[in-house]
Amino acid sequence: MGSPRRAAGRRAARHGGSGRSDAASSAASGSTAGGGGGSAPGRIPQGVVDTLAGIEDLVKTVGFRNPGARLSCTVGIGATAWRAMRGDDPGAAPAELHPFKEFVGEVHAARATPGDLLFHIRADRQDLAYEFERLLLGALGTDVRVEDEVSGFRYFDGRDLLGFVDGTANPVGPDLPVSALIGDEDPGFAGGSYVVVQKYLHNLDAWGGLTVEDQEAVIGRTKSDNVELPDAESGQRSHKTLATITDAEGVEHDIVRDNMPFATPGSGIHGTYFIGYSRRLTVIEQMLERMFIGDPPGKYDRILDFSTAATGSTYFVPTAAMLAGLGG
Ligand code: HEM
Repeated sequence: MGSPRRAAGRRAARHGGSGRSDAASSAASGSTAGGGGGSAPGRIPQGVVDTLAGIEDLVKTVGFRNPGARLSCTVGIGATAWRAMRGDDPGAAPAELHPFKEFVGEVHAARATPGDLLFHIRADRQDLAYEFERLLLGALGTDVRVEDEVSGFRYFDGRDLLGFVDGTANPVGPDLPVSALIGDEDPGFAGGSYVVVQKYLHNLDAWGGLTVEDQEAVIGRTKSDNVELPDAESGQRSHKTLATITDAEGVEHDIVRDNMPFATPGSGIHGTYFIGYSRRLTVIEQMLERMFIGDPPGKYDRILDFSTAATGSTYFVPTAAMLAGLGG
């Protein structure tokens, strides 16, 4: 998913972005009519379905006012909402689609916070992201409720608020679609993707209490020039190593991350909105398992001692054609 990708759910949210080429992402979730929290079965109101089907036109409507700002919106649809729209028949849903799988380690937990829809809105100018979200929420109306809304920004040379360059190991070129897009293994959904989002809140005071050397050992890269580091001899693996998934044949499986820093310093909030797109949902789940349970179990990702996962949800990202086809 090269540049702009977007996703949203039944609730609307806005992400405004600032900085050179990033925008923001926001997650919202609604439930089916009258439901809550993204897990209620039932029909999806036709107005919501029509809005999702027409989202490409809405992006054009707003984006054409400043094409250079590259407005985009990726839509993610949760397992319950997808089945409410497409039915329960075998083959009606992407093979791996299910609600966020929780991982509870000895110290830290990745909890599920259900949602039906995710809208990942990106633009180089925050006003476009705002305008798009305003119109989108207006179109969705009272059939959806916003569960969460995060407005991110680009921080210097692509750094997270822990101060490290974030996104370096993302696949590029031909590797990108191979990692992010469903292929022939699930032909009815080829070209789509799975997206997992988690809102992490950082304890910057505690993080700042570490030496730069210790911070680098936690991440697995140097802070200033972003060079990879070997793991400690103690057996404690770095974040970079725990998030590297290699199968029995020795093949490494990547995902495409679009993490965004977000903050309201006056309220003491500093965070990373994790956004991971993957061809296989199991790859992200293995990463989460290694981070939260640890490898070996107990030796969990020390980034979690300074970053609390406040949310967690999973969505399927249909292709533009699948989305347009939802309207019937
Ligand atoms: C507090 C939240 C997080 C922060 C601040 C963070 C930050 C980073 C940083 C600085 C790197 C090294 C540079 C890079 O390659 O991008 C990295 C690598 C990576 N992270 Fe995270 N990350 C977070 C959460 C996650 C989560 C939840 C996942 C997956 C479930 C994940 C997956 C990865 C992967 C796959 C890599 C690349 C590993 C490799 O070198 O192959 N990260 N992350």
